[in-house]
Amino acid sequence: MTLSRPNAPTASSLREKYRNSFAEVRAASVALAAPLSAEDQCIQSMPDASPTKWHLAHSTWFFETVLLQPHAAGYVSFDPRFQYLFNSYYEALGPRAPRPQRGLVTRPSNDEVMAYRAHVDAAVASFLAGADDATWEEIAPIVALGLQHEQQHQELVVTDILHAFSCNPLLPAYRTATGPSLRLAAPLPPVRWLKQAGGTVQIGHDAAVDAAIFAFDNETPRHDALLRPYAIADRLVLCGDYLRFIEDGGYRRPEFWLSDGWAQVQANGWQCPAYWLASDDPRLAFQLSATGAHSSAAGWHVFGLNGVRPMDPEAPVAQLSFYESAAYAEWAGTRLPTEFEWEAASSDPDLQQATGHVWQWTRSSYDPYPGFRPMPGIAAEYNGKFMVGQVVLRGGSVATPAGHTRPTYRNFFPPAARWQFTGLRLAKDL
Ligand SMILES: [Fe+2]
Repeated sequence: MTLSRPNAPTASSLREKYRNSFAEVRAASVALAAPLSAEDQCIQSMPDASPTKWHLAHSTWFFETVLLQPHAAGYVSFDPRFQYLFNSYYEALGPRAPRPQRGLVTRPSNDEVMAYRAHVDAAVASFLAGADDATWEEIAPIVALGLQHEQQHQELVVTDILHAFSCNPLLPAYRTATGPSLRLAAPLPPVRWLKQAGGTVQIGHDAAVDAAIFAFDNETPRHDALLRPYAIADRLVLCGDYLRFIEDGGYRRPEFWLSDGWAQVQANGWQCPAYWLASDDPRLAFQLSATGAHSSAAGWHVFGLNGVRPMDPEAPVAQLSFYESAAYAEWAGTRLPTEFEWEAASSDPDLQQATGHVWQWTRSSYDPYPGFRPMPGIAAEYNGKFMVGQVVLRGGSVATPAGHTRPTYRNFFPPAARWQFTGLRLAKDL
C-alpha cells in the first residue's frame, strides 16, 4: 500500500517526528489499561463496545498488517491466527472473528496480548531505525495512520469500559484520581450567541497546503460551502440546562422529537442521559447505602470515570444521542449547527469548549465531501464505507487523546448511540 501526499516533509524531518511518537502512543494505550483487572479487560458489554484486551491487540494487528507485513522484509508474525482474531472490519483481508463475540475471547490471555504488543513494537522500532530515506517517505503516512488509529482506539478503551462499568451493579470508578476538569474555569456566564456572517467558506483539510498536518481521507478534499448567516453558542449545553428540559417533560413530549428519536424514547424507556441516575434509581440507593446517605434527597447523580458523583449543573451534558440533542435544541427554540457551521465558527476566538469536553452532534449526515477519494489499499475501508446512516460530530471529548483532533476532524456515530462522551452546542438562524 502506498499513501503519498504532495509537498510531503523530508525524510529526515519525518524520522525526527516519528522517532518518539510511536513509543509514546503505544505506551499510552497500555497506561489506559493499567487500572483494569484481567476480568475488566476481557468483558464486552454490548456489540458496539469492545473489550480492552481486544483494543490492545487490534491496534497492534493494524501495525502488523499495514506496515510490517507489506513493507518490513523478513517480518515473522507473532501468531498467524491473530489475523482472523483481531481484524475489525477489513473485508479485503478475509474472514474475521464475529464482533459481538469479542468478549468470549478469553484466550489469548492478557499476558499473551502484551507479548504480541512487545513483538510488534520491537519489529516496528527495528524497521523504522533501519529504513532509508526513500522508505521513510513511503511509510511515514502509514506510521501516522497507525498512530492516529491507535489513538482512536484509546478513546474507545475509555468509553467502552465505562459502558461495561455502567452495567455493573457496583458502578465502579475507572480512576480515583481527579481527571481533567469538565467545567469552565470561571463562573458560567449566560450563553452568548456568536454571530457568523456565513457566505462561501472553505471546509476540510487541504493536503497540498497542510502536508505536515495529518488528516483522515474523510476530511478531504477542501471545498467551498455556502452558509447563511447564523449564530452559534459560545459554550456547550450544560447539565443544568439539560435538567430544565427533563423537568419540562422533554422525554414525555413528542413535539420536540424526530420520529425515529421518539421511537427510541418509547422503545428504550429513555428518561435522561445514559449515565444519569435519578434520586429514586435503586442503583443510587445501593451506592449511597455504603456511606449511610439516603438517596431520596440526593437528587440527580451522574456515573462517570470517577464513579458516581452528584450531577454538576455546570458540567457539559454528555452521553446523549443525536436524537436527544436534536430534541433539546427544538425545545430550546434553536437547532444544532451543521458540521460546516461548526468548522467555520471554530476559529472564532470567543468560541469556548470547542474540544476536550464532549463531541458535539451536528445536523449533518456523514457523507463524502465533493471529490472524496478513499485512501488507497487496505485503508480504503477505513472511513468511506461507513458513509451512510451516521451523523457527524465535531470537537473532541475528555476521553480523546490530547492533540488527536483538529477543526476539520469528523467523528461519526449512528444517531441512537449514547455511550460516548457526546453532547451539543446550539445554533440558530439570523
Ligand atoms: Fe480499528
